[in-house]
Amino acid sequence: MSAYDESRLTVVDHPLVQHKLAILRDKGTSTKDFRELVTELAVLEGYEALRDLPLEEVEIETPLEKMTAHKIAGKKIAIIPILRAGLGMVDGILTLVPSARVGHVGMYRDEETHEPVQYYCKFPPAVEDRTCLIVDPMLATGGSLTAAIQFLREAGVKDIRALTLVSCPEGVKAVLDFDPDVRLYTCVVDRQLNENAYILPGLGDAGDRIYGTK
Ligand code: PRP
Ligand code: URA
Repeated sequence: MSAYDESRLTVVDHPLVQHKLAILRDKGTSTKDFRELVTELAVLEGYEALRDLPLEEVEIETPLEKMTAHKIAGKKIAIIPILRAGLGMVDGILTLVPSARVGHVGMYRDEETHEPVQYYCKFPPAVEDRTCLIVDPMLATGGSLTAAIQFLREAGVKDIRALTLVSCPEGVKAVLDFDPDVRLYTCVVDRQLNENAYILPGLGDAGDRIYGTK
């Protein structure tokens, strides 16, 4: 497989992330713990993905004296979960940016073709002016994420960042080749896809593990 543009890929491999990922992957992890870990990982990853948020100077007064401090310069942010599994990451990002709007893209993978099938799409007002964080725990073939990116580009969005927890080389390449500007954040790039387009070693079906549907 040919290489991809690594300058647009950030692997968030902080020790806390690796520790939580190890528990997340374990087949013995309960639905409750899995859900909580997805939220915690979204917080840690979101912190990195928002590292370049613009700041503005504000004059404040501490109990001792006046000073110039810095606050986020009113950047508009939208979180775009890919249903279902992406919903599991929304609360984590909202912990960081409580005022963010949330749009939804509903898609599932056809079990035979592995192609994404869209069933819902709703974005917040003025989505084109917002920094959009697409969230989905799994990046496998890349079909779901590239479709979500395409919907946002068609809506005029310029700043798109995709946050996944577990990816594979095939999916990373598909996404970075599909869109020349998207920035991709993931906690790990696993070995490969299997014949059913599941990530190896992966963690299984993220949606089923978040919602306890299997
Ligand atoms: C999973 C996952 C991604 C997609 C990744 O969702 O959450 O959306 O598969 O695969 P891809 O990169 O090959 O498109 P799934 O289709 O299982 O739906 P769910 O979230 O409703 O379980
Ligand atoms: N979707 C998942 O939930 N897991 C995979 O490994 C691939 C796609």
